[in-house]
Amino acid sequence: MKITLIKGDGIGPEITAAMKKVVDALKIDLDFEEINAGLSVFEEEGVYIPQRLFDSINKNKIAIKGPITTPIGHGFRSINVELRKKFDLFANIRPIKAPGPLESKFEGVDMVIFRENTEDLYAGVEEQISPDEAHSIKIITREKSERIIQKAFEFARENARKKVSIITKANIMKLSDGLFLEVGREVAKKFPDIDFEELLVDNTAMQMVMNPGRFDVLVTENLYGDILSDLGAGLVGGLGLMPGVNKGKDIAIYESIHGSAPDIAGENLANPIAMILTLCLLLDDINEKENAEKIRKAIYKTLVDKKNYTRDLGGENTTTGMADAIILNLGI
Ligand code: NAI
Repeated sequence: MKITLIKGDGIGPEITAAMKKVVDALKIDLDFEEINAGLSVFEEEGVYIPQRLFDSINKNKIAIKGPITTPIGHGFRSINVELRKKFDLFANIRPIKAPGPLESKFEGVDMVIFRENTEDLYAGVEEQISPDEAHSIKIITREKSERIIQKAFEFARENARKKVSIITKANIMKLSDGLFLEVGREVAKKFPDIDFEELLVDNTAMQMVMNPGRFDVLVTENLYGDILSDLGAGLVGGLGLMPGVNKGKDIAIYESIHGSAPDIAGENLANPIAMILTLCLLLDDINEKENAEKIRKAIYKTLVDKKNYTRDLGGENTTTGMADAIILNLGI
């Protein structure tokens, strides 16, 4: 099967190489079509996202990507946001669960965050009113709220999950978050078999730390989802372990939660597990569940032995060392 591969920036090339090594070890029938985007492409071609990347994703319908750097506070708009908008990848799905026996203060964490991916403050509608004043406009629509909330409930039903929590700040943003919540209440009526809970985002952040085991499926807007999923990652070992996917109607781009980690890029220090688990999400969706489970088991086994840990987990192993340990634990 042909899959578009975007290696990305920073640690992207290192972790995607590790991911590919696992695919090769298991001889999984994936044919990667490698096309990059970002600053390096701009420097050579004058565009951040080349047309051939759009064409490739349109043709293959599935892409897996490493992180891409976005300048902070200035410069070009996020390529990640651009790709999500272009292909209308409205559901950012992030499972939060420890992939191995890691020591943690937080017990029983097993939640899935459904984050709306196309609107909210991320729509990029900003206006410089004066040198001393800037506005960002928060956009929430019924249609886009409905499809993400519907998707979260469908996922809950299909995966025997018991509860969907909708997260807003509707007490303050009565119109925008109020609309998201109103739509949530309507959709919930179609799923009487699933418990429905309404929570405010600040309370959610506290509860995720105090009692994370109470959460099951969460559905929320773009910004809250972004922040809460990093918080979730922090509960179960950090960003180096957390996979994710952006899904639209018939196109999906698989990518881990973390960014390009410029502080450790090129040093063979990044943890490749998030990227390899992201591959597992892809395999789940293309009838390769058996291989996905094999890889998850190998990751679990690898995390039993602390000498395999990369620096983010408190160890001294390298990106390639971790990938090799996982491959060894595949037992092929
Ligand atoms: P980041 O996720 O890149 O890094 C945060 C911290 O986590 C750093 O200390 C980093 O070393 C560590 N970290 C992240 N992934 C790791 C891994 N696999 N193994 C070990 N340690 C890891 O977030 P930051 O620094 O806020 O963003 C850096 C750049 O990445 C920015 O340009 C940002 O826009 C971009 N970004 C891209 C994303 C994407 O392509 N989907 C998502 C998030 C950020």
